[in-house]
Amino acid sequence: MWNQTKITELFGIKYPILLGPMGGGFSTPQLLAAVSNAGGLGSLGAYTLSPEQLLETANVIKTLTDKPYNINLWVSDVDNRLANFPADSHEKVKALFKPFFDELSIPFPDLDANIPSKFLKQVEALFEIRPAVFSFIFGIPPVEILNEARRLGIKTVGAATTLDEALALEEAKVDAIVAAGFEAGGHRPSFLRPAHDSLTGTFTLIQQLKAKIKTPVIAAGGIADGKGIAAALTLGADAVQLGTAFLITDESSATSLHKATLLSDQAKYTVLSKSLTGRMGRLIRNRISDEIKYESEVLPFPLQTHLIRPLREAAIAQGKTDMINFWSGQNGVRLKHTKAAELMQALITETGQILKS
Ligand SMILES: Cc1cc2nc3c(=O)[nH]c(=O)nc-3n(C[C@H](O)[C@H](O)[C@H](O)COP(=O)(O)O)c2cc1C
Repeated sequence: MWNQTKITELFGIKYPILLGPMGGGFSTPQLLAAVSNAGGLGSLGAYTLSPEQLLETANVIKTLTDKPYNINLWVSDVDNRLANFPADSHEKVKALFKPFFDELSIPFPDLDANIPSKFLKQVEALFEIRPAVFSFIFGIPPVEILNEARRLGIKTVGAATTLDEALALEEAKVDAIVAAGFEAGGHRPSFLRPAHDSLTGTFTLIQQLKAKIKTPVIAAGGIADGKGIAAALTLGADAVQLGTAFLITDESSATSLHKATLLSDQAKYTVLSKSLTGRMGRLIRNRISDEIKYESEVLPFPLQTHLIRPLREAAIAQGKTDMINFWSGQNGVRLKHTKAAELMQALITETGQILKS
């Protein structure tokens, strides 16, 4: 049977179809539950949540599903260089972005660079919640954390953008590895080499990983329908993970403008840019991603997000849609389902029809 794989066995789910965790609140408890209740694995992107918010959200999830689900955190959630970011570089970034603030007639924000990492405290909350799966990006958690997850019976999942990252994750004995192809929406979670040197496509990455590692592989990036799922499974993936296709559903908290843009012709043009958050991510191209060249220095993550937030809010209020960042993967070609349960059903039916056994 196509739907029985190492991953379905490992996570105790019916179909090897995972909701990609989407941090910043995009993967709501309702979206997570719709996917888990349909037999896939729902995920919560939780890296921006405080430990208290994480515990509260888990309480909501428990009222919506009793099926396995995944909580996702960022091992590195603050750039190391933030602590010593030079004042003259700060001034250069200010000069670079000032014209956008002027155009929207809003003041340049006062930025506080004192941003502590949340990761270790979030892990404590996660261990209290005990989800079936703990996935993480931007690195590998310390060995004590991986051991504790194992002791609690929580499966661990790391993300690789290159074969070397997958080998490092296998060495750390994680239970499964996401092959994060460059087609994917959201941030590029590279952790060994710079993201711009780690740009492998999903289908190549699946094959590179399957040739060299034994840990089960979850394919992510550019998969949006049953044909994509069947193709990834045929290449050896043990499961797939979809983000953008779920972003347009009613259960995601993306704004209606974001959803409409994902369904418009504009979604054909996505770019990888670090100008919106300080780390490279894929979004629908806009004026900021066009005008701030990749080589330009921007603020370290997440300080750059603090700079962009007021700009984004003013752009939305003033209808300047060409300045808003709309996260998106490359493959929005046939997105149509706006109910998560219907999308899941379509994915299951279509994949079954293609793979037939
Ligand atoms: C808005 C958005 C936010 C995301 N945030 C996270 C995140 O916090 N953690 C994570 O592991 N992956 C994150 N991702 C990646 C997804 O989980 C998934 O791997 C990816 O979207 C798959 O590619 P696709 O968009 O082509 O379907 C995000 C993706 C999007 C679109």
